[in-house]
Amino acid sequence: METNSPNPFPESEEKKWLRRRHLSYFTDYREDVGHDLAYLGLPAAEMLDVILWRDVLSHITAIERDPELIRIMYRTARLRDIRRKSLIVHGDLARVMRVLAAPDTEFSSLMAPFPFHEQERVRKARRIDYDIINMDLCGGFLYRSAGPDGAEESTNVKVIQNLIAMQSRRGLRFLLILTLALRDNGKQDYLGFIREYLSLLPPSEAKMSVEHYYTADKYKDQPPQLRRYRFCIPIFLLKEAFNYYHVRCEGAWSYKTFYHGLFLFDPKAPISRLGSVYPPEKETQALLTAPLFRLKNVEGSVVPTLCPAPTLI
Ligand SMILES: C[S@@+](CC[C@H](N)C(=O)[O-])C[C@H]1O[C@@H](n2cnc3c(N)ncnc32)[C@H](O)[C@@H]1O
Repeated sequence: METNSPNPFPESEEKKWLRRRHLSYFTDYREDVGHDLAYLGLPAAEMLDVILWRDVLSHITAIERDPELIRIMYRTARLRDIRRKSLIVHGDLARVMRVLAAPDTEFSSLMAPFPFHEQERVRKARRIDYDIINMDLCGGFLYRSAGPDGAEESTNVKVIQNLIAMQSRRGLRFLLILTLALRDNGKQDYLGFIREYLSLLPPSEAKMSVEHYYTADKYKDQPPQLRRYRFCIPIFLLKEAFNYYHVRCEGAWSYKTFYHGLFLFDPKAPISRLGSVYPPEKETQALLTAPLFRLKNVEGSVVPTLCPAPTLI
C-alpha cells in the first residue's frame, strides 16, 4: 500500500488479480447481455475497481459514508475520465440500500432525513437497472452494530435482503461480488445454519464428512471461518432469493484474511403463484460443489490453489 494512500484498505497483488479476472468475466457477460453494465458498490477513494472496469461500465453508483473520501472520489473520477458516468451517494450503506429497495409508497418518508441535494442523487440511483453489485463489506458478515432503536442488528444481512428486493422487483439479472473478512462473530449462528440444513438429509458417510469439513475447528490449512462462509454465504443467498432467482457461484476465492465470491442471480420464471419450493436441492448441491481457490502472492505472481472440500454427490 502506498504510504500516502487515501484508501485505508490495503491494496494487494491478489486484489489486482481478482479485478483483472472479473474484467475478463464482465467482458464476456456484456457480450452475453448485449449492453454495457451498470455498477453499484463501495469503490472507496481510489475507485480502483471501476477504473479498471470502466470500458465495460455504462454507469457507476458509488456509495460512501466519509465526506472527505467523497471529495477525493470526485477528483479521482474527473482525473480518470469516469466523472460523467459516476453518481456518488453520500450515506451509510445500510440506510442507502434500504431507500433504494423501498417500494414507492415508503420512499418519501424514508428520504425525509436525507439533505435535499442527496435526495436527488438517491432518486437517480433508484432509476438505474444494476448489472454488477460489488459489496466489499469491510468486515465479517454477522458482526452486530447498534440499530436505530439501540437494539443489536446484523446490518449486512439487511443489506443483502434489500439488494435482492431492489433487483427482484424489476426482475433484473445481476452479478453480486461479495468480499468478507474472515474475522467475524456469530460462530454458533453459522454452525447452527450448517447443521440445520444437513439435518434435512438422510444419514450417510458423505454427509458425515461434509458436516465435519464445514464445522470442524481445524481442517488442514483451511481456516474455520473460511469453511463456514463457503457453506453459509451461497446457501444464505439462495435462501433469500429463491422465490425470484436461480443463484450460481461463478467463482470463490480466499486471499489474505478475506473470502471473495462472485454470484450470478438469474431471474426465475414463476412456476406457481405459491412461489418456489425450498430447499432447492440441485442448486444447493451445485453451490456446495463450486470450487474455492486460495490466492497467494509468490514472488510477485498470484498463484491460485484449489481448497478441496468433500461433497454430498
Ligand atoms: C472496504 S472499502 C473497499 C474499497 C475497495 N473495494 C478496495 O478494495 O480498495 C469500501 C469503502 O466503503 C466505505 N464504507 C465502509 N463501510 C461503509 C458503510 N457502512 N457505508 C458507506 N460506506 C462505507 C469505506 O469508507 C471505504 O471507502
